[in-house]
Amino acid sequence: MIEPTGHSELDALLPRIAAIAGLDADTLEAEQTALLGRKAGLFTTLLRSVADLPIERKRTFGATVNRLKTAAEAAVDARRAALDAAAAQAARRDVDLTMPGRKRAIGGIHPTNAVVDEIVGIFRGLGFSVATGPEIETVWYNFGALNFPPDHPAMDVHDTLYVDAAPAAGEQGDPTLLLRTHTSPVQIRVLQETPPPVRVVMPGMVYRKDPFDPSHAPAFLQIEGLAVDTDITFVDLKATLAHFARSFFGAQTVVRFRPSFFPFTEPSAEMDIQCRLCAGKGCPACKGTGWMEILGCGMVHPNVLASAGLDPEQVSGWAFGMGPQRIAMQRYDIRDIRTLYEGDMRVLEQFR
Ligand code: DAH
Repeated sequence: MIEPTGHSELDALLPRIAAIAGLDADTLEAEQTALLGRKAGLFTTLLRSVADLPIERKRTFGATVNRLKTAAEAAVDARRAALDAAAAQAARRDVDLTMPGRKRAIGGIHPTNAVVDEIVGIFRGLGFSVATGPEIETVWYNFGALNFPPDHPAMDVHDTLYVDAAPAAGEQGDPTLLLRTHTSPVQIRVLQETPPPVRVVMPGMVYRKDPFDPSHAPAFLQIEGLAVDTDITFVDLKATLAHFARSFFGAQTVVRFRPSFFPFTEPSAEMDIQCRLCAGKGCPACKGTGWMEILGCGMVHPNVLASAGLDPEQVSGWAFGMGPQRIAMQRYDIRDIRTLYEGDMRVLEQFR
């Protein structure tokens, strides 16, 4: 409380200064400017008027104006500090420290990728390296270089989308572009770039005009394998692939090789593993056969080595191709391949 000043025009200011303590933030700002503004504030005006006063009033009037000005400044500072403190307090109350924390979803590796990684890892352990090739291929790499004769019926299962784009200049053979139907063309690309000895696995996506049903997908993964060196024989093929089957499916796994046909291998084979559910007796999982097909393989055809610029008299090789999604389905008893494409958390969480 400020005592009456003895100057009636200044006494009128006393209630105004007292009211500062109750102002909200916006009116405080306005009142500060009105009273204390450097250029046009009320106190500046009053102090300027001192000069025109008669000498006997000058001293006490001036001193009183200064005293009230200091009081007003102190009141503004105090009110501002009080408002700031209240705001900080309110902000603190907005944070509810008893609320449960926000759950952070931690992802896992998709079962398909986990199987690819594991298979690639087994071959890495045998000294294989990893290569990839383009998903848009030329007809030559996808078929011609792999010894598919033009219009051969083996191409029927390899129907795919052709890409309507200008082929690159200087391509070998038929440069028409298509979505590759298998990873085998990567064999040619690797052999063109790497002189033997070559030991490589080549994972990647392939495309075919297949329905999207429990056992087919129009886009699926393959892992291709290739070993080319001097004196590679079918024994190397059998031993390596049997080792792979035992590493992946378990040490007791029984394998068998059946004759088959692929244009790019001669001889060609399928490798089966004995059904682990019925131990070969025959059950619904192996469709009563006692065996499950795992991959196709064979000795690299001399024409394929020649396509890649190698001399089939000097080097030989073996190759395989497998579908890691089919393998994941067998291992985890997944009955519908579409499950692997859907991203359904109820399924995927089981593989974390
Ligand atoms: N490329 C074949 C396919 O997609 C799979 C395959 C079979 C690859 C035998 C090979 C192989 O390398 O030797 O049906």
